[in-house]
Amino acid sequence: MEGAIDCGLTVEEAVGRLKYTHWALRRLHAIFIARLAAMPIYELKMTFSLHGHYCIEHVDGIFARVREMRHPPFGMDVAPHEALDFFFDEIQNAGDTEALVLGLYEKAIPQLVAAVRDQLEVTNRLYEHPTYRKLRHLLVELEDVEAYGQQAIACLVDDAARAKHADWLELLDQSVANFGSFTGTEAKTEHALAAQFSATPYVYDGKPQRDERFRDSYNMGVNPEAFMFRDDMPVRPKTLMMSFKRLREIDVPEMMSSIITETEGKPLGYYVDMTRQLWDEARHAMMGEIGFVVNGIDWTQIPINFTWSLELNTGLKPDERHAILFSIEQGLMGKETGKEKEWELAVASTDRVSELIQDYDWADEILHAKIGRDWFVKGFGTQAEAVEYGQQCVYRGFLQRVSAYKEAGLTEHRNWWPDLYTAACEHWGVEPDAHVLAYDEFYDTSAPDLPTAKV
Ligand SMILES: [Fe+2]
Ligand SMILES: [Fe+2]
Ligand SMILES: [Fe+2]
Repeated sequence: MEGAIDCGLTVEEAVGRLKYTHWALRRLHAIFIARLAAMPIYELKMTFSLHGHYCIEHVDGIFARVREMRHPPFGMDVAPHEALDFFFDEIQNAGDTEALVLGLYEKAIPQLVAAVRDQLEVTNRLYEHPTYRKLRHLLVELEDVEAYGQQAIACLVDDAARAKHADWLELLDQSVANFGSFTGTEAKTEHALAAQFSATPYVYDGKPQRDERFRDSYNMGVNPEAFMFRDDMPVRPKTLMMSFKRLREIDVPEMMSSIITETEGKPLGYYVDMTRQLWDEARHAMMGEIGFVVNGIDWTQIPINFTWSLELNTGLKPDERHAILFSIEQGLMGKETGKEKEWELAVASTDRVSELIQDYDWADEILHAKIGRDWFVKGFGTQAEAVEYGQQCVYRGFLQRVSAYKEAGLTEHRNWWPDLYTAACEHWGVEPDAHVLAYDEFYDTSAPDLPTAKV
């Protein structure tokens, strides 16, 4: 009773604060997603996928709450204060990984966490329970982001990097003071802000980068799909090919990053759904890593090619990329060559980890096929036309690339399968089967990553 009597914000005060939180989350989402393709560090690429997903989900929740508060969402498409945009422009353009990590996880997130905590403290839990509930859920996830960020900074930022960026971090603090903290309620200063990283406009960099654990990234020397569906191959080695296919899905968040970043003006639900899918694809990549680790495989020895995200991000337009993604995901729904078949193979292998991985991969991919129908087909007319367009884009995007990589000296397309299979057999304590060991089907006779054959 005391709490209900004592505290509370007016509707106007609450909305004023929520607009800051909403805008901060919106900008953070855009930064996480835009920076993940060219982020070489595997862990950060995956984490940006998750943190982007958190942010846009809460943008949606807060936007909906503001609409309920006698404030039609006027002004929700612009920053509540120009210095808030300055602050995020600087982080979006951060010139190196250390600056990006410091800007996100030492400046933006902790201050946003503090603002949400502050609002929760002064929110009346009775009058304003719907806001209280949304902010509580937001805080749980933001605290996870903050804790992760502290670890990332400890790993990645040394004293020299911190010293290098000291003036820039001070500039960020000054901009925060100018917009009156993330609650927007502190006294606002008027520091003259001289742009550093944002002095030149942001340019999206969609060229995927991978760290040193990913080698021979143009290598397309093994066709895993063909192996999967060959009846003369035993089922257990097929789980290795499935782990490869899962880990290779790291190229999907890279590619979806470019679609989301370069597609403007869609309803909020588009960005929510597409980012959810992006995070799922990142999870699938990590599931593939798990599949290798439990079989004693050093996955860094296997070339996890990035050719798909590279070609799509650098050679095709956003709607063409989306068309390809849509075509592929519809193709995965086929009973004999799709996700269900992979799950059946995993069950038959009696490898519990592989079974669970394929079970959830299948479930997620069904959701993605729906997201494609919801957001892509509508602009097209019929599903068949959309699939057809996607297939045309694949052929334009890929034919002749495989040999071109070799001719350019980018890869030898080494057949890595015998090494992988041998290492797994050692772990399993069995002798390699000569027929399986001799598998040598390449991508040279067919266009790689055909809609029916990938993801
Ligand atoms: Fe998947
Ligand atoms: Fe998918
Ligand atoms: Fe996928």
